[in-house]
Amino acid sequence: MTERPTPQTMGQQYGRRSWAEPWKIKMVEPIAMIGREERERALREAGYNTFLLRSEDVYIDLLTDSGTSAMSDRQWAGIMLGDEAYAGSRNFYHLEEAIQTYYGYRYIVPTHQGRGAEHLISQAAIKPGQFVPGNMYFTTTRLHQELAGGTFVDVIIDEAHDPTNLHPFKGNVDLDKLQALINREGADKIAYVSLAGTVNMAGGQPVSMANVRDLRALCDRYGIRIYLDATRMVENCLFIQEREDGYADRPIAAILREFCSCTDGAWMSAKKDNLVNIGGWLAVNHEDVFDLARNMVVIYEGLHTYGGMAGRDMEALAIGIEESVQDDHVRARVGQVRYLGDLLRDWGIPIVLPVGGHAIFLDARRIYPHIPQDQFPGQTLAAELYLDSGVRSMERGNVSAGRDPQTGDHRYPALELTRLTIPRRVYTQAHMDVVAESVKAVYDARQQTRGLKMVYEPKYLRFFQARFEPV
Ligand code: F0G
Repeated sequence: MTERPTPQTMGQQYGRRSWAEPWKIKMVEPIAMIGREERERALREAGYNTFLLRSEDVYIDLLTDSGTSAMSDRQWAGIMLGDEAYAGSRNFYHLEEAIQTYYGYRYIVPTHQGRGAEHLISQAAIKPGQFVPGNMYFTTTRLHQELAGGTFVDVIIDEAHDPTNLHPFKGNVDLDKLQALINREGADKIAYVSLAGTVNMAGGQPVSMANVRDLRALCDRYGIRIYLDATRMVENCLFIQEREDGYADRPIAAILREFCSCTDGAWMSAKKDNLVNIGGWLAVNHEDVFDLARNMVVIYEGLHTYGGMAGRDMEALAIGIEESVQDDHVRARVGQVRYLGDLLRDWGIPIVLPVGGHAIFLDARRIYPHIPQDQFPGQTLAAELYLDSGVRSMERGNVSAGRDPQTGDHRYPALELTRLTIPRRVYTQAHMDVVAESVKAVYDARQQTRGLKMVYEPKYLRFFQARFEPV
């Protein structure tokens, strides 16, 4: 275990060269920690679910990196250039051009956020009874696939389910698992491959370029399309640059174009990589899917030149896309996540390794071995962290996985995690120190901690609204 440098020891380390964010702060938003008794009350009123806390009662908010990023001065300037015409807004054409330039797809459909695009692609490309293989489920993605009559099949490599395995590309598709599914069901029963880079539920783990190339070759043999969840794809590209032979000198933007060229289209939650507070898009290369999706968007989202976004949102998004692929931005973003991860790892706290792109995933199963999975160790850890310091995290375990639609049982995923998700360009290194110290305090008190029981369970995506009580 290496000693972390402190402000006191840092000056003594000659030759030390740190990286820093490629921006300075122009505007600040005050935050404050409320007292312990108030936190206890707030948590009780929220049913021990961090999604039900008021943001005013939160000190450092690591619930999600979705829509929580800070926009740049250029993006705010773009907001003033909103063309709020109902049809044909100039900002839509900027957005279309940005997606075509940086992601390389032909046809664009704007949506209000990622799940709007998931809805469109699922309805347009899945026939009831078909299978949708993918590299681990994501909550909203799988639900839209199921609502369209599809069945999700996990074809991620086994290493992804082991939080201690150090495979550099734990997001990779296991081509043998995919081949076995094709052999068993027939290629015409496969709607498409649902590929995500990075893989959120596995801990922000990347997919390699070699893997997507091999996947393309396999799918071409059977005429199967590949659709990419591009939500955190620029972070995936940084891992390719760092870990894959031949990419060290390639800019993130070039790696992104190359990766996307192996797929037939993508859906996007622009609230993550693309640095906006709201927005999403679907982009495809085939006219048949585009026609269907562009027609459906007017039913569910809005006209096909705004899809639920204001003109100003689309302008900020077009600028955000360009900023999001800059190498120094991506390095600082993932660098901050790693800074927090290194602290926790060095203090012996069980986390998912290697550290992923957008979050630190605490391994609640190993932190609370005495709490059974149906007493929700991940949910418990999120509640304890909030009590300790007002830091808001979220569960990514049994509650998030939901119930099997056939049997009605909990799904009991192998990974029982609590996610500390880092918004982009929002918090400082000092905030990361405060978070790490709180995790350590909660970890040190782990033996006294008891689990939770679920007392209210909504039918869909239960983790957002479920309520709990201490056992
Ligand atoms: N795909 C991935 C990989 C996501 O992480 C999300 C959202 C979506 C799709 C859906 O996009 O929220 O814009 O509708 N993830 C958020 C999170 C909610 O906290 O991880 P959305």
